[in-house]
Amino acid sequence: MSDLPVPSHLLPDNASVGSDGALWVGGLPLLDLAEEFGTPLFVYDEDHLRARCREAVAAFGPAVAYASKAFLCLAMARLAYDEGMAIDVATGGELFVALRAGVPASRCILHGNNKSIDELAMAIEAGIGRIVVDSFDEFDRLDALAARGLPAPRISIRITPGIEAHTHEFVRTGQEDSKFGFGWHSGAAAEAVARAQASSSVSLVGLHMHIGSQVFVAENFAAAIEVVAPLARELDLPELCIGGGLGVAYVEDEEAPTLSQWATVVKNACRDAGVPGRVTAEPGRSIVASAGMTLYRVGTIKEIPGVRTYVAVDGGMSDNPRPVLYGSGYEAFLPRSPGAARPRRVRVVGKHCESGDLLVRKAKVPEDLAVGDILATPVTGAYGHSMGSNYNKVPRPAVVFVAGGSARLVVRRETTEDLIRLDVPVA
Ligand code: LLP
Repeated sequence: MSDLPVPSHLLPDNASVGSDGALWVGGLPLLDLAEEFGTPLFVYDEDHLRARCREAVAAFGPAVAYASKAFLCLAMARLAYDEGMAIDVATGGELFVALRAGVPASRCILHGNNKSIDELAMAIEAGIGRIVVDSFDEFDRLDALAARGLPAPRISIRITPGIEAHTHEFVRTGQEDSKFGFGWHSGAAAEAVARAQASSSVSLVGLHMHIGSQVFVAENFAAAIEVVAPLARELDLPELCIGGGLGVAYVEDEEAPTLSQWATVVKNACRDAGVPGRVTAEPGRSIVASAGMTLYRVGTIKEIPGVRTYVAVDGGMSDNPRPVLYGSGYEAFLPRSPGAARPRRVRVVGKHCESGDLLVRKAKVPEDLAVGDILATPVTGAYGHSMGSNYNKVPRPAVVFVAGGSARLVVRRETTEDLIRLDVPVA
């Protein structure tokens, strides 16, 4: 592990060191943002978000969808839509947010391994662009809705191609033993296609797969394409969606393909395998992860001589559960001196009431880190805010988008009143 400053490829596109030596993003000093909006704070470089959306559309065309589970709020749904992306929603709740943001239902794609009949009805009544059917039970529910007089939705069939992506088992989805989709090797996929073709309750327009998330090897996608290519050729449908899952670099030594490089591998694999129709995708993490970072304030430093130093910040597993859930690694740095060497090894922990509450297991930080410092963890733009919680009644952080020297609040910080808004008052 080197003592080098945080590498620039982990920072948002529009991060720069100001004349004060501190880190600025989108033309604003991070320390001022922490002062103005408080901490913990999610800061997104808005132009970076827009650039990634445009790159995805340029690479895959207008059918490419932003997987909104990675980070969703009204402003994000609108931004992705304005930049030409469709929106992948995994629940009725995500669909509601996208619709409220002004995204037409026709630009939304509904996913989910256990969509309720209400979610399906809501989607069809709104005029959903596509439903990705995941199970035979879902076909039954779609039949029931057709019997009620709802129009037949356009659907894709989610196939589980039997490919093991090299990623954490919790985010691996392409293998046959999965709760998602119709297995390829068991013959369920072929059966689902036959059912869709024979049904007047749905209109089959494509095949879909998603092999997993945080996948660094673009060739894993090519392997999955090879599996489904014979069926795609036989059916000659308008679309094959290869899902999301492109990995991103979180720590110093990691490197990931760009969206454009990923698209090239995928499109070449489809061409070589003779897949007809358009090839599309639904990236989440690769659109938003490195656009965002979290700012915390350091409150307590506990040194245990000869053992380790704990640096406690004012957030934790409630704003970023990924280190606890998946053992994910992050970097940490001080926005006041982003170019400083980071020779000190500490464990960055949160303020929650359990020992598992850690944010960075082995953080490299500058020697002079002190109580009161603003500490940043980069690459928290995906699956941080969206998987956040109110554990220990810690209010959820605010989210700001910065661009061109101004900041706009897109999600306000929760207040203590928000913490009891669902409770029935006691007499
Ligand atoms: N499409 C489908 C059907 C998906 O299930 C997912 C992610 C995506 C697209 C977007 O994948 P992405 O491009 O973001 O990798 N909470 C985990 C990640 C769970 C991903 C779930 N599905 C994490 O924090 O790593």
